[in-house]
Amino acid sequence: MIARKNDYSSELIKEMNTALSFVAASTKTERISQEEYDQLVEPYKEAMTRLEVRMNGLNEDYRKKYRDYPIHNIQARIKSRKSIEKKLLFRNLPVTAYTAKDNLTDIAGIRVICYFVEDIFSILSLVRTQTDLLILKESDYIHYPKSSGYKSYHMVLGVPVYRIEGMQYYPVEIQFRTLAMDLWASMEHRICYKGETSEETTDAFQNYSTELSEMERRMKHLLDEARRDNPQEPIL
Ligand code: GTP
Ligand code: MG
Repeated sequence: MIARKNDYSSELIKEMNTALSFVAASTKTERISQEEYDQLVEPYKEAMTRLEVRMNGLNEDYRKKYRDYPIHNIQARIKSRKSIEKKLLFRNLPVTAYTAKDNLTDIAGIRVICYFVEDIFSILSLVRTQTDLLILKESDYIHYPKSSGYKSYHMVLGVPVYRIEGMQYYPVEIQFRTLAMDLWASMEHRICYKGETSEETTDAFQNYSTELSEMERRMKHLLDEARRDNPQEPIL
């Protein structure tokens, strides 16, 4: 009886171990190793840095010409390994560095925070003059806000990266928004984005979006008036 019990246990352990190794093998294909991730993101980091430097340069040039800064600040980030894996899984794609490179255009991302909507369109017209940058995609969520109330101007730019094998364009997602839109998006992202949200909260955010745009418009008007009254004041 005892011998039978022991036999049964060892059989069970063997079966369990086989099952566990299957699980391990299948989860392995759902992961990108740290080494693969580091290799994947390296050129994206370079493309992102190049674009950030360019945007800062355009901001400086604009200030010299028009005595004004259109950009308040710039944030840059590389998508984490976990977020890449999550997005590929969500899209039912194999979780590999190859599929990430072939399918994701937001591995590198830059957020350009401007003062006012007018500044966004000024800086956009400067971006269009940069002949080495390819405009791969544009989404105007300012004139056509999302149903959530989200407003921003998105572009995916192809940025040239040079290696000994030659040049390749790498996509960098760039989001242009105002300070007020950034406040809205940061809060909405924490509270609602891609989650379960009550109708009341959804409605509140739609209203905040409209209210913030109105507030922004009034502040711009005050600024224009102040500048008209003091045209010689240095603009910082
Ligand atoms: P993602 O899968 O989220 O990247 O969306 P997408 O590939 O369809 O692109 P889309 O242009 O819709 O959004 C890209 C990014 O814009 C998101 O990752 C967010 O950072 C931001 N975004 C888009 N819609 C919203 C929104 O309703 N609320 C907030 N807070 N952010 C948004
Ligand atoms: Mg994204």
